[in-house]
Amino acid sequence: MKLETQRLILRDLTMKDARDSLKNLNNLNISQYLLSVSYPYTKKNAEWWVNHCKEQQKIKPRTSYEFGIVIKPIKEVVGGIGLTHIDYEQGTAELGYWIAETHWRNGYVSEGVRKLIDYSFNTLKLRRLTIPAFATNKGSNGLAKSLGFTYEGTLRQAAKCKATGKIHDENVYGLLKEDWKK
Ligand SMILES: CC(C)(COP(=O)(O)OP(=O)(O)OC[C@H]1O[C@@H](n2cnc3c(N)ncnc32)[C@H](O)[C@@H]1OP(=O)(O)O)[C@@H](O)C(=O)NCCC(=O)NCCS
Repeated sequence: MKLETQRLILRDLTMKDARDSLKNLNNLNISQYLLSVSYPYTKKNAEWWVNHCKEQQKIKPRTSYEFGIVIKPIKEVVGGIGLTHIDYEQGTAELGYWIAETHWRNGYVSEGVRKLIDYSFNTLKLRRLTIPAFATNKGSNGLAKSLGFTYEGTLRQAAKCKATGKIHDENVYGLLKEDWKK
């Protein structure tokens, strides 16, 4: 499965990607904001993740998409965008994302997330998307707001970061299909 934007390819991960995602995710500036990424992040961790994604890909209809972000001229996976917890009955799903620190603030993740929002509402026919972000995560809170998501509240001590062991309050952002159309 593959989606394309002007500058990016978003595609399912393969075992060959384990090497690329490994070097990018082994960075506490990234994993301190993610729920279940170990630090240090080893080749074994990356291979486990790719195998897990491959298992998930077999479930039809798909209940999650864990896309690797490929910047077209670079041709290797430099980040990830996940559409997870897809519930067709409820019409809901959750978004998560990261990108290598060297590529921050170039608009890449918002470009990819926009594509996935379109896909969620127009192809999967979902109604509502959620972004959960640690309250301390300026980048993700800023990104969610810049995409037009609405801050809906804070879940106290809802998340434990695997990399740091720290407990975080989690801000919840929601986007409805009717908001996205406007
Ligand atoms: C959060 C993250 C994914 C943003 O990716 P990115 O490609 O740099 O984001 P974009 O360039 O698309 O940013 C779009 C907008 O989001 C907001 N934003 C992004 N990073 C921000 C930051 N560090 N502080 C405040 N706002 C930020 C801005 O409004 C930005 O627009 P601008 O650059 O024109 O001001 C990236 O910083 C990252 O990988 N962080 C670590 C992992 C993480 O936090 N994942 C999310 C877990 S919920």
